[in-house]
Amino acid sequence: MKLVFANWKLHLPLPEAVDYAKDIFNHTQELARQTEIVLFVPHTQLFAVSAVVQNTFIGTGAQDCSRFSEGAYTGEVSARMCAAAGAVAVLIGHSERRRYFGEIEPHLQEKLSRALEADLEPVLCVGETLDQRQKGEIEKILRQQLSVLGEVDLASKRLLIAYEPVWAIGTGVNASPEQIEKAHALICHIVGEIKSITPLILYGGSVSPANIREIMAIPSVAGVLVGGASLKLETFLPLVREAANFGE
Ligand code: PGA
Repeated sequence: MKLVFANWKLHLPLPEAVDYAKDIFNHTQELARQTEIVLFVPHTQLFAVSAVVQNTFIGTGAQDCSRFSEGAYTGEVSARMCAAAGAVAVLIGHSERRRYFGEIEPHLQEKLSRALEADLEPVLCVGETLDQRQKGEIEKILRQQLSVLGEVDLASKRLLIAYEPVWAIGTGVNASPEQIEKAHALICHIVGEIKSITPLILYGGSVSPANIREIMAIPSVAGVLVGGASLKLETFLPLVREAANFGE
């Protein structure tokens, strides 16, 4: 079963978020056994959107969580709070968080731990910038980003990794199947050195109805993490339908 994870980013305030989640459910419910959808929504929409999709095959996730459990940390939202609001998963280390909010590996490692303590499924986001790719530093950067897995106890959780080359995010230029395959193989290899576990690797970066088929057809692609195209039914539904074609 292939996964379709929607990253709403800083979009879809209430009440649009609730209406949109209802629309997604209504249009995809017949595909329940063939795909898995998680909507990564802003924190303030988590509770309401989770209520809409409760007991369906659609889950909700947070786009980030605090590295702290609780305390005097103004503005923070803990993993436990996200879970209590209905989240089943959380994105960790999205490139926009790394770039605009200075997230660094030691903090991401703490976030991973907080997520697992709260029983959330973490989705670790990794990927190189164009500059790093041009300098031949893909392996170096992936090793650095994946190193956070070292001390983390996954218990029985799946290991979900989203490979999102920064140069492909929101640019309309997706990585080619060959580039995706190479990076996924590298990620598998590096993870194998750190943990005796096979990760489920998603691809993210300008996924759209135009390229979903060739991306989903890549054997190492467990699913996709979608930003822009997840914000409207007309671009999101074709992605879900294509994922469903790959069956149970
Ligand atoms: P995009 O974003 O699909 O708009 O490129 C993907 C992401 O940032 O997760």
